[in-house]
Amino acid sequence: MPAKKVCIVGSGNWGSSIARIIGQNVKASNRFDPMVKMWVYEEMINGKKLTEIINAEHENVKYLPGHKLPKNVIAVPDITEAVKGATVLVFVIPHQFIGKLCDQMKCHVTEGTIGISLIKGVDEGPDGLKLISDIIREKLEIDVSVLMGANIASEVADEKFCETTIGAKNDANGHIFKELLQTPNFRITVVRESDTVELCGALKNIVAVGAGFCDGLGCGDNTKAAVIRLGLMEMIAFARLFCKGTVSSSTFLESCGVADLITTCYGGRNRKVAEAFVTTNKSIAELEVEMLNGQKLQGPQTSAEVYKILQKRNMVNKFPLFAEVYQICFEGKAVKEFIKCLQNHPEHL
Ligand SMILES: NC(=O)c1ccc[n+]([C@@H]2O[C@H](COP(=O)([O-])OP(=O)(O)OC[C@H]3O[C@@H](n4cnc5c(N)ncnc54)[C@H](O)[C@@H]3O)[C@@H](O)[C@H]2O)c1
Repeated sequence: MPAKKVCIVGSGNWGSSIARIIGQNVKASNRFDPMVKMWVYEEMINGKKLTEIINAEHENVKYLPGHKLPKNVIAVPDITEAVKGATVLVFVIPHQFIGKLCDQMKCHVTEGTIGISLIKGVDEGPDGLKLISDIIREKLEIDVSVLMGANIASEVADEKFCETTIGAKNDANGHIFKELLQTPNFRITVVRESDTVELCGALKNIVAVGAGFCDGLGCGDNTKAAVIRLGLMEMIAFARLFCKGTVSSSTFLESCGVADLITTCYGGRNRKVAEAFVTTNKSIAELEVEMLNGQKLQGPQTSAEVYKILQKRNMVNKFPLFAEVYQICFEGKAVKEFIKCLQNHPEHL
């Protein structure tokens, strides 16, 4: 079997962290080619191209400063050049860019290529929900697994222990990705319910915005725990309504479920920006630019996509927390109303 060539599609905060792991792991395995291409959305940093800085200094100085990338990870600004010859694709870009990028890659993806999506988000399709992995599957006609978990990128780059979940419809491919991505400090469990795993990763960002509102309003930890619990209930109910396959409670107990939800509600960028939204009165869009240095926010946009899906099915009232996050972020609803939404939330969904 020829060695599999890996291409990482994306190079933000998470993309660069995962590139550190992939670069090390391919060197230690016969299954993979030791050179890894990483597609970088080109930008200028102090008059120099980011790709040139990465290839000279082996560091993504904008999105993951302070952490070296392995020298066998090569930054490539042209997507068609990056995917040429690759048989393993790792997708790790903000979800709003995936459709256009797949269109650009399509002619260069060969038969038998496999992919994994680390992207957290959802899209709206003609039948309601469209997963990001569905977009990749449809556009590129390849098998796509997903990886989601309690994995704040900077902590993974610091090699602090964490767990994560691979959802793979094809078990053999799931295990290829486990070999590519697992380290002693990044422990992977492979499960079959890929769609549930992916939805967990997307929906928890909406709950994290709610957790940030609580922090901004000065509510205590008890309130935040209520947001986490009610948010989890809505995540499970939403997955049961919209996933095509089985949705087991046990998947929510994996790292992609409750663990990622807790991490994001305490540590992530969605929580942080939502807190500032309350304390500064600036818009989400303004705060994203001011606070994130080019990183993208997923929670508010996912709430908008989920809201549209719920509206189409006449189900907005069944998901009060998701709906409230959207209305506060985008429709000018007063953030104080968020507490009322918790007070009136149904005990069970
Ligand atoms: N950062 C984390 O801790 C973390 C952890 C787990 C999952 N994720 C998920 O991984 C995905 C990627 O996030 P990230 O943290 O690597 O990225 P990021 O938010 O740090 O960076 C934004 C990236 O988007 C690129 N970009 C900007 N404009 C673009 C355009 N027009 N077209 C294509 N790319 C463009 C930038 O170059 C940059 O690489 C997201 O879905 C995120 O939710 C992030």
